[in-house]
Amino acid sequence: MTITLPAFTPLEDSLWLTLCGRALDNRSSRPILGDATSDQIVRTLDYDYDKLHIDTNFRLSVALRAKKLDQVVGDFLARHPDAVVLDLGVGLDTRHARLTVPARADWYDVDFPAVAAVRERLIPADPNRHVIGADVRDPGWLDAVPTGRPAVIVADGLMGFLSEDEMVSLWNRLLSHFPSGELVFNAYTRFAVWVARHARGTKSVAGLMRFPGMDDPRKPESWNPKLRLVREIVLSNEPEVAEFPPRWRLFQRLIAHSTTLSRMASFVLHYRF
Ligand SMILES: C[S@@+](CC[C@H](N)C(=O)[O-])C[C@H]1O[C@@H](n2cnc3c(N)ncnc32)[C@H](O)[C@@H]1O
Repeated sequence: MTITLPAFTPLEDSLWLTLCGRALDNRSSRPILGDATSDQIVRTLDYDYDKLHIDTNFRLSVALRAKKLDQVVGDFLARHPDAVVLDLGVGLDTRHARLTVPARADWYDVDFPAVAAVRERLIPADPNRHVIGADVRDPGWLDAVPTGRPAVIVADGLMGFLSEDEMVSLWNRLLSHFPSGELVFNAYTRFAVWVARHARGTKSVAGLMRFPGMDDPRKPESWNPKLRLVREIVLSNEPEVAEFPPRWRLFQRLIAHSTTLSRMASFVLHYRF
């Protein structure tokens, strides 16, 4: 398949970091996520990932956080087979292909129109999977999404690009659209934002980060009374760390003693409403 990619904006281009992180995880000797589809997409597009300088730590953290986000979405779908799934800032991720999606569920992949157009050409259509090309900050796109059903909303790599006000108003719109559901995303503390702005592996997105960082996972509970924290998932405490290469396993074990350091790369926040 030959696909000529449009010129993405730097913000849209950020999708390569996570996509290539998962592809490289799949090519490693002990994959954490084992996402063969991301790998295939990178091969098909013949993307030169060397220029991203993805290091082992970033690759492991991208793969592990995707796995944790998948688990939350998968558990929700097992309990609510008629759910609506929203994957916000989806890029070229194929989370639906990593999960068992019940026939009654509807899955919505949302990203800017240019990204959505590439997705539609690259990833085979499916009657229950829909692509919405929109800026998530615009209120109108939710009109295309059914209401009255439980929803699980996932965002991998998106929230750092929204200001806090934009995030609050997006969440409030989502929470008033659905009767109940769960929200899960990778989050950043103020320190993690500082690290992302200065690390070599995230240099390409350093100037695009707008979220100031959040040190208290309960803070969003004050943004909307329906919102309750279910769990903060600190990646260095997760069992998959045992599968990391020895040096990185030791690194994670050491930073696990410090909340500040273990939230440094990224951690996952899971809420219900
Ligand atoms: C770091 S990438 C992550 C992509 C994907 N979730 C993944 O894990 O591979 C961030 C994505 O968010 C999208 N994005 C950023 N701001 C957005 C916005 N305001 N509306 C829609 N998409 C947005 C970008 O286009 C990009 O695809």
